[in-house]
Amino acid sequence: GASDVTQSPSILWVWQKESAEMNCSHSKGASYFHMYWFRQQQGKPMELIAFTTLNQEPDFGTFSKEKYSATKTVAQNGSFTVKKVQADDSGVYLCAVSEHSESHLMHCCTKT
Ligand SMILES: *[C@@H]1O[C@H](CO)[C@@H](O)[C@H](O)[C@H]1NC(C)=O
Ligand SMILES: *[C@@H]1O[C@H](CO)[C@@H](O)[C@H](O)[C@H]1NC(C)=O
Repeated sequence: GASDVTQSPSILWVWQKESAEMNCSHSKGASYFHMYWFRQQQGKPMELIAFTTLNQEPDFGTFSKEKYSATKTVAQNGSFTVKKVQADDSGVYLCAVSEHSESHLMHCCTKT
């Protein structure tokens, strides 16, 4: 259901040390309140950086809260920020949404 999930902007250039904020929204309904942010870099496997769910602290797994932030206050959208951008932050960032964290059946993916 990629067309149900959209990200903006589609391309984002930022100066080093600035923040890169991107948004994701979907039209899958209020039950899809889990949101995942992945990064894909050339020659590397896709990595899950952040899991967010409604009105809870985002889960960055092994990634640093100093480096990334994510917000999710309504079911239909959310945002993700890469802070203090460096050259090696360059990549494709993908947003996915799901209904139940147990199932991990995600509705992939659009990209920034
Ligand atoms: C992302 O969402 C925020 C809050 O609604 C908005 O201020 C910002 O302009 C959006 N950015 C993009 C690239 O859509
Ligand atoms: C998310 O949705 C809310 C409610 O529809 C809207 O007010 C807000 O601007 C949206 N934010 C983004 C980042 O799209």
